[in-house]
Amino acid sequence: MDGMTSYVTVTADDVIERDGAIKLYDAAGFAGMHKAGQLAARILDALVPHVVPGVTTEALDDIVRRMTLDAGGVPGTLGYRGYTKSCCISINHVVCHGIPQAKPLKDGDIVNIDVTPVLDGWHGDTSRMYLVGDVALKAKRLVEVTYECLMLGIAQARPGNRLGDISHAIQTHAEKHRYGVVRDFCGHGVGRVFHDAPEVVHIGKPGTGPELKPGMIFTIEPMINIGRPDVKMLDDGWTAVTRDRSLSAQFEHSIGITETGCDIFTTSPAGLDKPPYA
Ligand code: MF3
Ligand code: CO
Ligand code: CO
Repeated sequence: MDGMTSYVTVTADDVIERDGAIKLYDAAGFAGMHKAGQLAARILDALVPHVVPGVTTEALDDIVRRMTLDAGGVPGTLGYRGYTKSCCISINHVVCHGIPQAKPLKDGDIVNIDVTPVLDGWHGDTSRMYLVGDVALKAKRLVEVTYECLMLGIAQARPGNRLGDISHAIQTHAEKHRYGVVRDFCGHGVGRVFHDAPEVVHIGKPGTGPELKPGMIFTIEPMINIGRPDVKMLDDGWTAVTRDRSLSAQFEHSIGITETGCDIFTTSPAGLDKPPYA
């Protein structure tokens, strides 16, 4: 598998397409990703006081769209493969790609909001969990461990390591808590393309997969279930839910490999990277 991995150095002005090669970005690319990532994080920060019982996910989507456009960006999901909303909002047993709608949030829900503003052509892709009102302890524990999974994965993101080191750290921590790691969706290269090579899977063995090199930019976005890993698609063609209807949580950051470790482009400027946000 690694024998097939190819890398290509790109500058900000190159014509960029999805061709299977792993792109290595220069300083201009990292600067562009930092700006887009910080806008994405600022949007997630601003949603905090709005994620309360009674609010509809459509109203939250309106906030995301307005903030993105006001900042001179465009929501990357809007019109993406026929998707018609400005973010994904996934409640309780929804694993990912929940479509904002007129249904109100209720006390006790756990909610993932995933935004990808595109700013100057760069995609800032990030998601966080939000707790609606009073949330059960076992749901809060899932959210906490899922955040730990993301950060333990990021801790493996440095030159010389391999993608499998990230995957393994995530899987090990989740399974230690007897949670199921979703296999059907993964992180991805990101930059001037929304979903690019490589695929960043969240289960794996250390020392396997493509080698991490300075200039690589990708997301890590583990989806962790209280129950089995298996997912089912709803008829809308987007919404993925746990097959056993167990709760699911997810956090996502966009990161770039540096000479010594990595930059996290989507860190919250307000320190609101994980709940509780109070
Ligand atoms: N932001 C999601 C991700 O992390 C992708 C959403 S694509 C959509 O990759 F079309 F479902 F919105
Ligand atoms: Co992503
Ligand atoms: Co995302």
